[in-house]
Amino acid sequence: MNEQQHADDLAAFWEHRYATADQVWSGRVNPVLAEVAADLPAGSALDLGCGEGGDAVWLAQHGWQVTGVDLSSTAVARGDAAARQAGIEDAQLQLIAADLSVWRPAGDQQFDLVTASYLHSWSAQIDRPAILRRAAGMVAPGGHLLITAHAERPPWARQGHDHGGHQPAHVFPTPESDVFDAVGDGQGWRAEIAEKRPRRATGPNGETGELVDSVVLLKRSL
Ligand SMILES: C[S@@+](CC[C@H](N)C(=O)[O-])C[C@H]1O[C@@H](n2cnc3c(N)ncnc32)[C@H](O)[C@@H]1O
Repeated sequence: MNEQQHADDLAAFWEHRYATADQVWSGRVNPVLAEVAADLPAGSALDLGCGEGGDAVWLAQHGWQVTGVDLSSTAVARGDAAARQAGIEDAQLQLIAADLSVWRPAGDQQFDLVTASYLHSWSAQIDRPAILRRAAGMVAPGGHLLITAHAERPPWARQGHDHGGHQPAHVFPTPESDVFDAVGDGQGWRAEIAEKRPRRATGPNGETGELVDSVVLLKRSL
């Protein structure tokens, strides 16, 4: 498969995932982002793989000037609708349907906060390391890069239930691998958080279990 076919496949996978459900995610902000952003002065933010806009809308509601990017135009349209419903001005939030492997912000803008919540793809794989490396370049001096990811297969997938197409061979990131992928040896950056965090969650069939997140917060030197 060449690069273009892979990109088409990935976009088709996500578009199908959103188009075949009325709503895929909860619409609520991811708790890690809410906790981290609460300690930062509101500025410009970029949400990578913004999905249906739960994080982007929350950031806009908390004074951030937000850009969100996602492959799926259906997801982006839902994020726009959520923003309208929340009364957010167009000038405060811009959601863009694009592939992060190639997308660049207008004028090569840099952001005070670049955040990626669960930027994964189980079936059609993303070149996540390349996207994280590009993302690090979009962080303004003194700004932050927050990467929250699944560090392990959910227990309901481990027990053999099919959930969202988790592939047996999927390699989950660790805090160390995400730091390395984003900023290499870390020169010019300080890792403020790089750890695994367990959390309770409810699975697709109502079962409860413990998920493990990888949480990385990097601050770029001035
Ligand atoms: C697991 S979802 C997480 C969505 C959202 N961040 C959240 O926490 O609810 C991953 C998202 O990444 C998006 N995505 C995957 N690869 C992408 C790429 N190369 N460029 C842009 N978005 C991508 C998918 O469309 C999907 O919405």
